[in-house]
Amino acid sequence: VLHIQQENCESLAAMDSEKKTQTTSEQMTDRDLSEQIKKVTKDSHVRAENTELMLSFQKGKVTLPQYKLLLCSLYEVYQALEEEMDRNSNHPSVAPIYFPSELARLEAIKKDLEYFYGQDWREKIVVPAATKRYCHRLRQIGKENPEFLVAHAYTRYLGDLSGGQVLGRIAQKSMGLKGSEGLSFFAFPGVSSPNLFKQLYRSRMNSVELTEEERNGVLEEAVRAFELNIQVFDGLQMLLSVTENEPQTCSTHSTSVNTRQIP
Ligand code: HEM
Repeated sequence: VLHIQQENCESLAAMDSEKKTQTTSEQMTDRDLSEQIKKVTKDSHVRAENTELMLSFQKGKVTLPQYKLLLCSLYEVYQALEEEMDRNSNHPSVAPIYFPSELARLEAIKKDLEYFYGQDWREKIVVPAATKRYCHRLRQIGKENPEFLVAHAYTRYLGDLSGGQVLGRIAQKSMGLKGSEGLSFFAFPGVSSPNLFKQLYRSRMNSVELTEEERNGVLEEAVRAFELNIQVFDGLQMLLSVTENEPQTCSTHSTSVNTRQIP
């Protein structure tokens, strides 16, 4: 309890000024999981940012079909991630980073899917094979190595709280959506300051006790988590190029290339 109070005090103090925010992050050391995980996934982050799907977002050119397919995959991924987090919520490596009311995305994604696909959205979910692989990995580590869940939670939730915030506004503009309908995924009503929350999350990550072997496993899993995300993005982009080319029966260059590349 004392530990939590101290953290909350730190967060409140950090809220007082930007300077304090900087000081708190500067206090991190090379041994901190939050620093190590950021370092080992740096290159993967660049690769994730440079996938066709993420580039579409950044250029303000994300299309409705792209976004709808992304939501389908996110639905499967967060269902697996959040089920495993819930089931392991008392595990010592999960409990400190378990923030369901602040972070859980599944209900928001369901709302968005219903908005775009209608009441029977469940029957319309389409995902590439890569999404199944990602979910399989999540369920496997939930059962066999719950201490690795932190790597997956970090990759998704801290990403959603970082670039995700900007991407939400871009998506709205790109697709000409009115208001926030269809964009619940990007909204975190339980998080008033994403930056302060990220700070709290990092300090919770750093409080997880891990053996050297477990720590290395977590770092490796984080790189894998990014890789799985990249494969999902590439996979759904591939699905899109096939459906775009559907009316064409003759084998244009792109049709033949895409057909060959379906994972
Ligand atoms: C952090 C941008 C895609 C995972 C960040 C930050 C930015 C950013 C600006 C904050 C960096 C900082 O605080 O130092 C973007 C953009 C993306 C993108 C523009 C694509 C359009 C992704 C994807 C993932 C991801 C696809 C993972 C699936 C993360 C994580 C962090 C992060 C985990 C937290 C890093 C840390 O502080 O340890 N991103 N991102 N990002 N992003 Fe992304």
